[in-house]
Amino acid sequence: MKFFIDTANLAEIQEAQDFGVLDGVTTNPSLMAKEGISGKNNVLRHYKAICDIVDGDVSAEVIATDFEGMIREGEELADLDDKIVVKIPMIKDGIKAIKYFSEKGIKTNCTLIFSAGQALLAAKAGATYVSPFIGRLDDIGYDGIDLIEQIRTIFDNYGFDTEILAASIRNPLHIIKCAEVGSDVMTGPLSAILALLKHPLTENGLKQFLDDHAKANG
Ligand code: G3P
Repeated sequence: MKFFIDTANLAEIQEAQDFGVLDGVTTNPSLMAKEGISGKNNVLRHYKAICDIVDGDVSAEVIATDFEGMIREGEELADLDDKIVVKIPMIKDGIKAIKYFSEKGIKTNCTLIFSAGQALLAAKAGATYVSPFIGRLDDIGYDGIDLIEQIRTIFDNYGFDTEILAASIRNPLHIIKCAEVGSDVMTGPLSAILALLKHPLTENGLKQFLDDHAKANG
């Protein structure tokens, strides 16, 4: 399973890249706003800075919600760097835009997926990735992992190339469950990725090894 980091924070992206397990980055307008990035030129510069740090795909979201606007913005984003994946919302014009970009060989990530039907539509339009938001489903009492499993079955039934990018990951258990049910990618905060490192028996065991070594070696 590929590991993407869901942030627009350059320091966190650099830390994840240096950690050695990073396969890509996803952003959204809220994450860009959180970093205080505004104005078209600053936004484009920031996406380019992210591309310069990571080796993999970088999802950059369009703001327009009409077909022409999404095409205009998406083409501008895609021109920035080969790593850019144009992130498009799951709406009717979004599906048309995904089809358009797919025919032009421009990668897309269909975002705000909350049902298997939405994922199927995006895959049929030729999306490179679909982003089911599992944490937000959990928040309202549904099981986000069930949705990943359902989409996995559908994509496998018909051999869709579209990759499942589990988004809205909140904790290490989400990551493990996504891997169990065969998500292609997960995108989450650095804290959830680093939490995979932790186990009390590892910490206790290492302490014991080092204490014993110190005793034996003075
Ligand atoms: O980038 C989309 C998604 O990962 C957002 O996550 O935590 O805001 O639900 P969250």
